[in-house]
Amino acid sequence: MAWHPVAETADFAQSPVIGRDCAGRRLALYCLAGRYYATADTCTHAGARLSEGEVVEGFIECPAHYGLFEIATGTAQGAPVCRDLATYPVRVAGSRIEVEILD
Ligand code: FES
Repeated sequence: MAWHPVAETADFAQSPVIGRDCAGRRLALYCLAGRYYATADTCTHAGARLSEGEVVEGFIECPAHYGLFEIATGTAQGAPVCRDLATYPVRVAGSRIEVEILD
């Protein structure tokens, strides 16, 4: 178990969602109303990158077939997505955003 630095708070200046590689995983990181979240970046439907999707009121909309996941919990919201996303704990140290990954 370890905390990994993955981004800076300023990285969200252009978008509320960004993609990052971390500890052998591809993560989607989110900034919503000043709080940070991390989920897997790979859609559980057909593998599109969620970090290329749209954030809509606490949900990430997949760019491929418009499936929705709740960002805070990773919960799939219905067809075409039926499997939840992995989520990861996030903490902020100064301007650095860190994600906890089970090694
Ligand atoms: S790949 Fe995401 S909804 Fe199909």
